[in-house]
Amino acid sequence: MKAVILAGGEGTRLHPLTYTRPKTLIPILDRPMVNYTLDYFREGVDEIIFAAGHMVAELRSYMDSIGEGSRVKIVTEENPLGTGGAVKNVESLLDEPFIVLNADIISSINMQEFISFAEDKGGMGSIALFPSSHPEDYGVVELEEGQRIVRFVEKPTREEAFSNLINAGVYYLKPEILDLMEPNKFVSMEREVFPLIIQDGFFGYRFDGHWVDVGKVDTYLEAVRTLLDIKGSRIDEASQIGDGVEIVDPIYVGPRSVKRSGRLGPLTSVGNGCDLGTSEITGSVLFDEVRLGENVGVTDSVLGEGVVVGDNSTLKGCVIGDGEVIDEGSNLVDQKVGMR
Ligand code: GDD
Ligand code: MG
Repeated sequence: MKAVILAGGEGTRLHPLTYTRPKTLIPILDRPMVNYTLDYFREGVDEIIFAAGHMVAELRSYMDSIGEGSRVKIVTEENPLGTGGAVKNVESLLDEPFIVLNADIISSINMQEFISFAEDKGGMGSIALFPSSHPEDYGVVELEEGQRIVRFVEKPTREEAFSNLINAGVYYLKPEILDLMEPNKFVSMEREVFPLIIQDGFFGYRFDGHWVDVGKVDTYLEAVRTLLDIKGSRIDEASQIGDGVEIVDPIYVGPRSVKRSGRLGPLTSVGNGCDLGTSEITGSVLFDEVRLGENVGVTDSVLGEGVVVGDNSTLKGCVIGDGEVIDEGSNLVDQKVGMR
């Protein structure tokens, strides 16, 4: 079986972090996000096709570096073709029923169980569904008995949202669906194709556990915090956290990171080779090689690779792009630094 990964979005809502890397390579704890995508396909899928468009060279060299170069094909779209157009664009690589997956999903879905469900149900295909308290941000689905989808509306208004079941961004589709799309044309799978196939049998597989769309800074932080909650604390052996550091679980600290005193956590992830000085860090993500000065406070923020924060500074609700330097004595709230 083959899987098509929709990875062509520019990750605009994650700027400035996605100026310097594709969304698929944003770190989540110890690994870039794309690894969580590949984890769904440890078995049963022999070819993974990335429909990509933004920073493709970086994605390709990362795939080679983790030894996935042969199972993974990366197809580049010159101009974004939309979620449907992107699948149509790789039609020549598809024959049997295939999986489509949004590249920005962190979830507990059991892919084998989903595939078995879809094979049993038949019709034009199936999609995975997850309950949400803010369905209007997503594709909203109405299910009837027998798990049949009777309505699909992409991003309705809050008042219009008729159910709390949302499209989790995982599809099993019959190749016939490709006949409904014109080649080289922008097509939205959710707005133009799904409403058409409802009459031909389209099924919804509900799952529980966790599901996060890592599309915005707050949902990125939510994804990291969710995994920290599930996995618990992990501090790499090759890091040096002083005895005087107050650790509030759960946290993740990568190799070669150093902290002398202060507080770390809860819900905080620190990459490799960071120097955290005497800071207090809560609810935040620090990418690799971040350097914090003396008496720095970081709360609910994301600090990109190589960020340097001067002494006596505080950051709250901030997103700092790779390599940025924050002057000493700064006090930043809800700011993005590193915008182009
Ligand atoms: N190749 C390609 N070309 N990929 C694209 C394009 C495109 O033109 N546009 C978007 N994508 C990719 C994105 O990179 C992302 O991985 C996925 O398709 C979904 O796009 P988003 O831009 O993240 O959409 P969304 O999150 O607002 O909504 C979608 O996902 C929700 C679940 O996370 C919809 O499918 C909703 O119905 C769904 O609930
Ligand atoms: Mg998304």
